[in-house]
Amino acid sequence: MVRYLEENSSLSPPAVTQFNGDRRKAGIALVVIVVIAALAVVALLVAFSYYWYIRNKVRRRFTTERPTESDEPAPPVLSSCHTEAQVFTFKQLQVATSNFSQNNVIGHGGFGSVYKGVLQDGSKVAVKQLDLGSKQGEQEFRVEVDVLSRLHSPYLLALIGYCADHDHRLLVYEYMPNGSLQEHLYSDGSSGTPPKLDWETRMRIALDAARGVEYLHEYVDPPVIHRDFKSSNILLDRNYHAKVSDFGLAKLGSDKVGGHVSTRVLGTQGYVAPEYALTGHLTTKSDVYSYGVVLLELLTGRVPVDMKRPPGQGVLVSWALPQLTDREKLIQIIDPVLEGQFSMKEFMQVAAIAAMCVQPEADYRPLMADVVQSLVPLVKHLRPSSRVIGTPLHHNIVTLQSSSIDSGSSSAAND
Ligand SMILES: Nc1ncnc2c1ncn2[C@@H]1O[C@H](COP(=O)(O)OP(=O)(O)O)[C@@H](O)[C@H]1O
Ligand SMILES: [Mg+2]
Repeated sequence: MVRYLEENSSLSPPAVTQFNGDRRKAGIALVVIVVIAALAVVALLVAFSYYWYIRNKVRRRFTTERPTESDEPAPPVLSSCHTEAQVFTFKQLQVATSNFSQNNVIGHGGFGSVYKGVLQDGSKVAVKQLDLGSKQGEQEFRVEVDVLSRLHSPYLLALIGYCADHDHRLLVYEYMPNGSLQEHLYSDGSSGTPPKLDWETRMRIALDAARGVEYLHEYVDPPVIHRDFKSSNILLDRNYHAKVSDFGLAKLGSDKVGGHVSTRVLGTQGYVAPEYALTGHLTTKSDVYSYGVVLLELLTGRVPVDMKRPPGQGVLVSWALPQLTDREKLIQIIDPVLEGQFSMKEFMQVAAIAAMCVQPEADYRPLMADVVQSLVPLVKHLRPSSRVIGTPLHHNIVTLQSSSIDSGSSSAAND
């Protein structure tokens, strides 16, 4: 039988063993080759991704850098293909506001008065009458309309339209029935003023506002730096959902100071990041500082600057910062009306975020995206709210041509 096998097999046993050994070797070689090839592909992919990452980073740097003289933006043209903003005649806005009646005034700001109005289709609007005069102001007004009408987020106040009839310059915004956050933080609840906001609402507002600024910094290319982020620029709808307003308006208008210390260079007293105030060097981190001040207002119920307070307590940041990270002292800064509405752990977490945001050194401040991420879990465990806790909203990156940006101000995002 063995003999038969030996005779009828084309390979003798040593040859079979040799053959099997070769096959195994070939198999191993194949596996090694496949593994090396796979590793090479992975290495190539990694290198390619890194290249793209660096390329985008560099490009972002370049596109956010202050343009040179020769890059000066050409005067922007407002055209229907560029903007969805409606164009109103002065007459239409006169009708909407009952001829700018004093009864319809809802506020005064550094750039003019704001009126409540009703458009022909019945929708309520806020009409801001800008006090501009110069040719420079005219151009900036157009740039602002051009830019603002392209930015869309549920966390930013929508620009509905504008009026540039003759010498009139007006902006028409969606109307926010609950006014500004500022009005709700410092009222005493008496003589018709609204009662102070509770902890839960404050946290939701903090998150909404953080998302608004995050949109400006992360979803617009180049990033838009608000420059005048403050509690009176956080507006509240009927459900106390917050929207950030006046992004870009800080670049508008004259340096007129009247009641409001609101200038093109300095923003508003008490909210301005120290490096911006000292050197004029503006980055997205300047907004993060201002955001931290608003967070402190929400926690303490105090205005950013009040020189009538006892010595050492006049400037909110200087007074609060040393106490923010000290559990013993932290209790002293809490707005008394919030007592019993939150756990100490929650309060400490928000205080820690505020402390990071108002760091004197800009590089130590977090990105707005980090602030949003830190606030989400704090708001999540509160009573569900469809808008805040629902599926995260996806924003598309909005690319603004350099001509759309005030080149003198959006110098850089340093991150
Ligand atoms: N869209 C709006 N809806 C409701 N109220 C508004 C709106 N815009 C502005 N206001 C009110 O008008 C006030 C003045 O606004 P503004 O001119 O932006 O100045 P500031 O932001 O410096 O207070 C705000 O504080 C707010 O109370
Ligand atoms: Mg405002």
